[in-house]
Formats: sequence, structure tokens, C-alpha cells
Amino acid sequence: MKKIILTGDRPTGRLHVGHYVGSLKRRVELQNSGQYDEIYIMIADAQALTDNADNPEKVRKNISEVALDYMSCGLNPEKSTLFVQSYVSELTELTFYYSNLVTVSRLKRNPTVKSEIQLRGFQSSIPVGFFTYPISQAADITAFKATTVPVGDDQLPMIEQAREIVRSFNSTYDEVLVEPDALLPESKACMRLPGTDGKAKMSKSLGNCIYLSDTPEDIRKKIMSMYTDPEHIRIEDPGKLEGNTVFTYLDAFCHDDLFAEYLPEYNCLQELKDHYTRGGLGDVKVKKFLYSVLMEELSPIQAKRQELAKDIPAIMETLHQGSIKAKEVAAQTLSEVKHAMRIDYFD
Ligand code: TRP
Repeated sequence: MKKIILTGDRPTGRLHVGHYVGSLKRRVELQNSGQYDEIYIMIADAQALTDNADNPEKVRKNISEVALDYMSCGLNPEKSTLFVQSYVSELTELTFYYSNLVTVSRLKRNPTVKSEIQLRGFQSSIPVGFFTYPISQAADITAFKATTVPVGDDQLPMIEQAREIVRSFNSTYDEVLVEPDALLPESKACMRLPGTDGKAKMSKSLGNCIYLSDTPEDIRKKIMSMYTDPEHIRIEDPGKLEGNTVFTYLDAFCHDDLFAEYLPEYNCLQELKDHYTRGGLGDVKVKKFLYSVLMEELSPIQAKRQELAKDIPAIMETLHQGSIKAKEVAAQTLSEVKHAMRIDYFD
């Protein structure tokens, strides 16, 4: 069986370093591993509209931003099909048929939907489109017969729901769809990088994100005001690593060969941590090191982003070509689906 990847992001803002360590970096590695036959990376604008119906301009503006983020991190349109969800209208058709296989109570039990409803304060006024987006996500995945969906752990309930839909479809009609597996980030720090304020999640509304496209000066300021250990007041005080954002970021970004260049008094991250917990190591020094570590990773990405941003029409054309290709693939699956459902009257 072919190994196929599908994943994507809602274009509601520029991508941040949480996206980067949580998924983007991994996607690029998977892309370059040569182990996958096909890779689809989707800008989920239709899904973004399920809770931004009144703000299409925000979604529109972020299509090219997200594409720039993708390509500057190393997603290569020669190897991965980058496309826009709404162009592939077959996805909405699949969603409509799959919705017959899902109950309202099952959707209500989806933990991600539950917490997002709370987060957005929808309470009793939940848009139907938002409530049913797990079904549309199952369409996204199955339209490409994806075997592998690289995502963060918050997306696990979506993959589970997609698997149920596949089983239900295949047993009700015919073996057409492929059950996908989620592929999670490798380390805990990467799984859910906290905001710079130490809060559990990076979110635009909390203003605690470091964006891939932030200027070095912004990044320096954000790191310098990062949450550490509030009881680590004087340099001599022993410091805590638990919940210390600076160290969580170092866990996600640092590799030991960076010490020789930026902090030669230490050989590895463990030595730095030991000194911090013992006492005698100030936050500012660790923060300056984190800045160097982060810029080491982000500088080439930012340089590439600036280059690519000079020609937005070319970026849009790449997405257009990718979308045309994605549409063909989805149309093939849709015709198999209709055949299995015996509604292919005129074929
Ligand atoms: N829900 C994902 C997000 O919030 C975006 C997405 C839409 C997606 N369809 C998908 C991810 C299919 C993986 C597979 O970013």
C-alpha cells in the first residue's frame, strides 16, 4: 500500500514557533525522508471559516502568509502538494455523505470540539458548520487516502473520528477508504510548546507567541520578558526547571553542539540545567543563550521567507497548481465513494 501524508493548518494567522517544533519541522523531515509516496499539505480555509464566518478577510489574508511559512521552512512544492481546501469542492461533497454515518451525540463527545466550544464562548449558539468540522476533517484525510496524519495531540480525537467514519463507510458500502494513523511529535516539549508567558498554549489572542516571521528584535524582546521561575530572584538562588518556559524552549530547540559557539562554559544542556537548579546562574544569561539558539534555527527560515515574499503572485500560483492537482485526486476518491454508495447513476 502507498504511504500517503495529509495534514494542514487553519489560516487564521501567521505560524509561530509552536507550529514549527510541533509539526512544520517534522513535515519537512518526512518530506525529505523519501519514505512517502505522496504528501499533501492543506491550507484549511474552509475549516477556518467554520468559526470565522464573519471575517473572511482574515482568512484570505493569511493564505499567502501560511504558504510563505510553509515554503520558508522547507516544504517544497516539487515534493509536497500544497493546496487550498476550499478549491477542492469534492471535500464538501464527501463531508455531506459522511455526515450520515455520524451521530450528533458522537460529535458532542469529541473532546477537542468540546473544549473549542468553551474557548470560543459559543455555548448554545454553536454554528452547525463548526460542530461538524470533524466530519469535514475526515473528508480531508480520506479524499487523499492518507495513511499518515502528522498532527499535535489536540488533533487525536479528529483522527479517531476519521477512523470510525472509514470503518463505518467501508462496512456499510465497500472497502474504498483508508484508515489513517496519527503521527505525533517526538518530544514532550515539542508536543505543546507553551506561550512566552508560561501559559499552556500559544495563542494569538493571549499575545504570547513568537512568530516565524517576527523580527530578530521582537524575538529578543519576547525572550527577555519570558516567564521563568518566579522564586528565582537572586542569581545565587536555586532555580526550578519545572514550568520554566526558557528551559522548555531550550528542550525543544537546543542541541549540544551549539554550546561550543554560544556558551562554551558548558558542554551540554544538562550541565546548564544542573547549574541553574544548584543556584548561581542568572535568567538573563540563559535567555541570551536561548535567543542565539532560536536565531540559529530561525535565521535561514527568515531569510528565505523574505526572498519568497517578494513574489506573492508566484506563491499564489504554486498554491493554484497544487490545488488543481489535489482536486483531481479528490475527484477520483469521490467517484469511488459514489460508486460504492450506488449513486453513480450516469457513469
Ligand atoms: N484542524 C487542523 C488545525 O486546527 C487543520 C486541519 C484541517 C487538518 N483538516 C485537517 C489537520 C486534516 C490534519 C488533517 O490546524
